[in-house]
Amino acid sequence: MNKVCFINGSPRGKNSASKGLIDKVIEMLDKQKLQSHELSVVEWYRKNIKEEDFELMSTMNAIVFVFPLYVDAIPSSLLEFMYGFEEYLIKHPCPKNYNVPKVYSIINNGFIEGKQNMNALKIMAHYSARIGFNWRFGIGIGAGEFIRETMEVIPLKSKLKQSIYEGLTILATDLEGQVNIEQSNIMTNPSMPKFIFTAAASRHWVKEAKMSRKALSRRVWSEA
Ligand SMILES: Cc1cc2nc3c(=O)[nH]c(=O)nc-3n(C[C@H](O)[C@H](O)[C@H](O)COP(=O)(O)O)c2cc1C
Repeated sequence: MNKVCFINGSPRGKNSASKGLIDKVIEMLDKQKLQSHELSVVEWYRKNIKEEDFELMSTMNAIVFVFPLYVDAIPSSLLEFMYGFEEYLIKHPCPKNYNVPKVYSIINNGFIEGKQNMNALKIMAHYSARIGFNWRFGIGIGAGEFIRETMEVIPLKSKLKQSIYEGLTILATDLEGQVNIEQSNIMTNPSMPKFIFTAAASRHWVKEAKMSRKALSRRVWSEA
């Protein structure tokens, strides 16, 4: 049976949008066709034997890196993990008759536009080629905080999130399939007007900051 490993690259670990998205893709997979594993970069940091995770990854048919966009790129903790895996593969080269694993990525970001993940997806494609794996495609998902907050209350199949659901379905189908059909990166986000998203996001961050809108604004400008 084919095996897939999901890497949760969010520093938030279990409380992340990344983890929620991993759970949704795993739910979509046919367990008779594919065995799925999950690793978390946060937990990898706490491990004494760090090579354990890399050993597991090197036995997979597919690896899906799932993480948040940080400054248009990759969280540094995930980058360290990726370098570690690359070093592991240099020390433990795969046998010649080995089926080259496929690599995918799901990146979520704070702003509404999923296409903001475009450059980070290019980094993942380069990394995949660098370690000798077979890059397939990635999904860039906007409004990550909204996705995280509403994961259990607004279903992916709802009109609002329909395009995200469709993107994840394409990924699940590709993971299960034997045939490689050309697929480009998918950029998606909840379908809502930007001004509504911005108003809701502003309210959310004022609440997170635990201070009034006025005090927060004063603080931002005094530190700018
Ligand atoms: C240090 C840092 C940098 C970030 N940089 C960006 C960015 O460049 N663009 C963006 O749209 N969101 C950015 N974000 C927002 C996260 O991508 C967003 O909150 C995401 O939904 C978090 O996903 P997670 O819950 O899986 O960790 C940043 C967040 C942090 C903490």
